[in-house]
Amino acid sequence: MREIRIITADDLDAFVNLTANAYPGIELTTVEKKQRFKERLQSVQADSRVHLVGLFQAGKLLGGMRLYDFTMQLLSTKVLVGGVGGVAVDLLHKKEKVAYDMLQFFLHYYREKGASLTALYPFRPDFYKKMGYGYGTKMQRYYIKPASLPGGGDKTVVARLNRADKDALAACYARYLARTNGLFERFDSLWETVFQDPAWHTVGIRNGSRISGYIGFKFERDPQRSFLDNDMLINEWVYETPADFMALSTFLHAQADQINRIIFNTQDEYFHFLLEDPRNGTDKLLAPTLYHESNTQGVGLMYRVMDVPGLFMALAEHNFNGQTCCLEIVLTDSFLPENGGSTVIVFENGRCRLTPNTQPDVTMQIDVSEFSSLVTGVVPFKALFAYGLATLSDPAYVDVLDQLFAAPKPICLTSF
Ligand SMILES: CC(C)(COP(=O)(O)OP(=O)(O)OC[C@H]1O[C@@H](n2cnc3c(N)ncnc32)[C@H](O)[C@@H]1OP(=O)(O)O)[C@@H](O)C(=O)NCCC(=O)NCCS
Repeated sequence: MREIRIITADDLDAFVNLTANAYPGIELTTVEKKQRFKERLQSVQADSRVHLVGLFQAGKLLGGMRLYDFTMQLLSTKVLVGGVGGVAVDLLHKKEKVAYDMLQFFLHYYREKGASLTALYPFRPDFYKKMGYGYGTKMQRYYIKPASLPGGGDKTVVARLNRADKDALAACYARYLARTNGLFERFDSLWETVFQDPAWHTVGIRNGSRISGYIGFKFERDPQRSFLDNDMLINEWVYETPADFMALSTFLHAQADQINRIIFNTQDEYFHFLLEDPRNGTDKLLAPTLYHESNTQGVGLMYRVMDVPGLFMALAEHNFNGQTCCLEIVLTDSFLPENGGSTVIVFENGRCRLTPNTQPDVTMQIDVSEFSSLVTGVVPFKALFAYGLATLSDPAYVDVLDQLFAAPKPICLTSF
């Protein structure tokens, strides 16, 4: 008989050992390292929005995971989103559906809390796609010469930020979040850690007590290269106005004599428009075409809807681009069958309401994984329709649905 429950103080040592074996890469290889990790877990447990959960069989811990109560800016609304990370299974009990049972628990846990969406970073996208997760926005890694970024702004407004700027930094992020699709609200504890690691630097635009843009970065150096040959890794670049953006870009542009390449991971698909030379230094052509390699890309964060009616209720204030139609969504969901089936929604001038007994104008058939990417704005309806991943009872509605679900791609700056 399996039991899934919150980890208590008595379970923590077993939880640490489980994690150490599931993630050898984090090198919890000594008693001291395990003790420090345990202390970190204790401080994590102190936050009421993070939950350590374990799967027990005959009293023995076979699996563990961390759950997060996130608030996400989804389209024009803030919604509760369940996050899961650190999924770990005992080496001796792999392939016994421990992860399966934990993911089932996770989805039901957040459905009961009133969330209609969950998110995770997959160790393997296909593993979680089978469980109904849809791809999020790709991450693009640029590797650019500083001088390739525009220079002409006023960099005198850029200042080094410190711990005293923590609240203003958080307020800047919150304003950015409100006008962006997909960002997660930050836990206060995260802003505490920004200035803890001396390897990380934060510069920003400070006007009195207000910060209107910032960059977090650290230096990186390949030990094979000379000590004068450094790169700069940017982990976050947030700005409010084009002038703020230009000031920060000019700060980076001015590093040309010291920095070889700036490494920037971004979900902005238009970033290359900025660059004087968008090539990433490999000088590779995508043969046989004459296309220059500009960046590498990865699939990461995945989303999953687990309560379709609940999602549209949460989005009642969102304007689905002024569209009017009665849509039936017929969802397949093999992992969470209670989420599958038919939902009828009336959209009137962009506002939605559930209407179970109304005759739909059009029926869309779609799997939960693609639906999750569609409704979050990751993929346009027309692409799914073209690939046969979404079908319509009346193809004349393709443009209406494409418009209805059109949204800026969601971005995420939270690791978990
Ligand atoms: C990755 C890891 C968590 C997998 O754990 P596991 O307990 O061995 O996985 P499970 O046995 O539950 O495998 C998932 C099962 O769900 C099944 N499944 C998934 N979606 C399903 C669906 N929609 N319907 C029916 N079954 C489904 C899979 O087919 C699989 O069963 P199978 O092996 O019989 O085919 C484990 O190997 C581990 O701890 N790895 C190291 C740490 C790590 O990488 N964690 C992942 C972090 S994201």
